Amino acid sequence: TATALIVVAAGSGTRLGRGVPKAFATLAGATILEHALRGLVGVDARIVAVVPAGAEADARAIAERAGVDAAVVAGGATRADSVAAGLAAAGDARRVLVHDAARALAPRALVERVLAALDAGAGAVVPVLPVVDTIRSVDGAADASAEALGAIVDRSGLRAMQTPQGFDAALLRRAYEAAGEGRAASTDDAQLVQALGEAVVAVPGDELAFKITTAADAGRAEALLAPTRA
Ligand code: CTP
Ligand code: MG
Repeated sequence: TATALIVVAAGSGTRLGRGVPKAFATLAGATILEHALRGLVGVDARIVAVVPAGAEADARAIAERAGVDAAVVAGGATRADSVAAGLAAAGDARRVLVHDAARALAPRALVERVLAALDAGAGAVVPVLPVVDTIRSVDGAADASAEALGAIVDRSGLRAMQTPQGFDAALLRRAYEAAGEGRAASTDDAQLVQALGEAVVAVPGDELAFKITTAADAGRAEALLAPTRA
């Protein structure tokens, strides 16, 4: 296939705190991985799900329930390691999308927007949203009450990054090779491309593509998934 869609789902879910890897936590009767894969049904891409080592068989069953034909591979210690594992299984795809399973409610329209930007010639595409909170820099003390407050950062010049991010496959592979061990700290693949001096194109993100990180996020996702409301 011309396009590979890597779904990284190998994180531990520490902040969610369910005691299971986040992608295998249940929301509204199905795992986060299943919700994420359901949202990708019909996308014209070879799906590669990257899951914790040992969870491959579970993930294959989940993919089948979700109705997608996915290759399943084991991830690594960092998100970037997991993306690299997905890239290694992406075959000869000409372009690659990288998506967080934790953004389980990302709408199809967002995926199509990213693909359209690649069709239009972009080498790297990232969905972005404006930042809603007032943001201030701090000196970074571990204890919030001990932090020295710095300046307010003008939020009109800030954007939050989402996934799926889209890439020319050769460009993303080159970015990962160039980053080497330095990739470990990266939670944003487009940043590695930008570090090569290559252009990254922004497309509008979607609020539904929020990342399920905390228990409050899981509650929001469950409310959105509820088939009926009181
Ligand atoms: N991820 C991954 N492999 C890792 C770390 C993260 O595939 N070693 C994936 C997660 O499964 C998730 C996405 O990257 O879909 C974004 O990561 P994050 O929201 O931080 O998830 P976790 O790392 O699981 O959560 P936490 O940081 O709270 O432990
Ligand atoms: Mg994490």
